[in-house]
Amino acid sequence: ASRNPLIDEQISSPLQVFGQAKKQINNIFVDIQDYVTDASERMIDVNKICPDVIVENELKSILDYRSKVKGICEVLTRDHMKVAFFGRTSNGKSTVVNAMLGEKVLPSGIGHTTNCFLQVEGSQTGDAYLVTEGSNEKQNVESVTHLAHALNYEKQLNEKELVHVYWPKDKCSLLRDDVALVDSPGVDVTPHLDDWIDAHCIDADVFVLVANAESTLMVTEKNFFHKVSTKLSKPNIFILNNRWDASANEPEFLDQFNSQEQVRKQHMERATDFLVKELKVCTPEEAVSRIFFISAKEVLQARVKERNGQALNSGALAEGFSARYMEFEEFERRFEECISKSAIKTKFLNHSQQGKQLVKEMYKIMETIYNRSQEQTHSKMCQKKEFQEKLNFTEQQLICITNQMKMKIHQMVDDVEDKVSKALND
Ligand code: GTP
Ligand code: MG
Repeated sequence: ASRNPLIDEQISSPLQVFGQAKKQINNIFVDIQDYVTDASERMIDVNKICPDVIVENELKSILDYRSKVKGICEVLTRDHMKVAFFGRTSNGKSTVVNAMLGEKVLPSGIGHTTNCFLQVEGSQTGDAYLVTEGSNEKQNVESVTHLAHALNYEKQLNEKELVHVYWPKDKCSLLRDDVALVDSPGVDVTPHLDDWIDAHCIDADVFVLVANAESTLMVTEKNFFHKVSTKLSKPNIFILNNRWDASANEPEFLDQFNSQEQVRKQHMERATDFLVKELKVCTPEEAVSRIFFISAKEVLQARVKERNGQALNSGALAEGFSARYMEFEEFERRFEECISKSAIKTKFLNHSQQGKQLVKEMYKIMETIYNRSQEQTHSKMCQKKEFQEKLNFTEQQLICITNQMKMKIHQMVDDVEDKVSKALND
């Protein structure tokens, strides 16, 4: 359960924190959007009646904010968490993606070498379809074979190209919670690593290096991550030593001088050195929860069986299966925590700072307009008062003059009467 009082729903996975944060920030921006729309409409009205209250620039700024907020709202609804998988050919990248999805979505294995970038994300419509780069056409995907065919034969794909695979959200909780998983061709098959990084890695929240536990980390794999960390500050990198089941079954590991534990220790030390000393992306303590020994193939098989309601036949399981399965689950837990935290920071921090700045600037403009209108009201009142005083004075004067005239007329009348009566008497 969450301790954040703003989050009202129960949270069962760290990924849902991202969803909650997205919902909240979306609501805030919808409020801001209402406010900007309201403010701009009122300003247009006021401007029609009293053109001196609002300066042209102020109206223009508010209209600009209106389109800015609209833009942010649109980006926000599209925001998701992105994880990218890299490693040498055949290390099991596509199998790891499938294991995490819980079913065979991407083609893998011999004859199914991944030959372009594949981004699996939740489909809004509930249908499975793919969209190639630069096209709006939705190609329906009925099965993995169909997908493999579409990728291999229907169009000559460039290795750098990105194909979006939209998969029904109800089939996988990762997709439901807005995670996009990007599978890639082997890092050893391309001379264009820089282009790959620019095109596909800049906005990734987490990187997973799928290594082969049967060999040590290769220069090409290390080189790729060195390049990534020159372009991104402190990328979040997980290292999966895949095919750990195969090494468990190798007879040479079973003698006392070269036990699987020793191999694990050696891999662990090398991988830790790579993350801590070479790339400097984490501390030795953090490295423990970044390096895992797994078998993607076993996890995928187990999950497919479970999905189909088939029991896991314990007799057919290789030695150490449960430990490897649990280690894969532990990787998933750490991965979920990491990606959710990182995506909230990178995606929403920027938006919330922009939002704060925007509201601050708008407040300043509205305050200036308010103060100006107050000043104008005050000066009109003063003018009115001055005018009133003048009117009062004139009125007084008029009363005085009228009174004086009245008296004078009375006197004159009296005078005339006197004179007339005198004359009559005479
Ligand atoms: P490319 O797309 O060609 O670069 O390969 P990839 O890295 O995507 O490897 P993929 O997932 O296609 O796996 C290659 C082969 O290794 C397949 O036959 C998988 O079944 C097998 N494989 C993958 N993971 C494991 C594992 O953990 N153990 C074992 N024994 N085999 C595995
Ligand atoms: Mg592949």
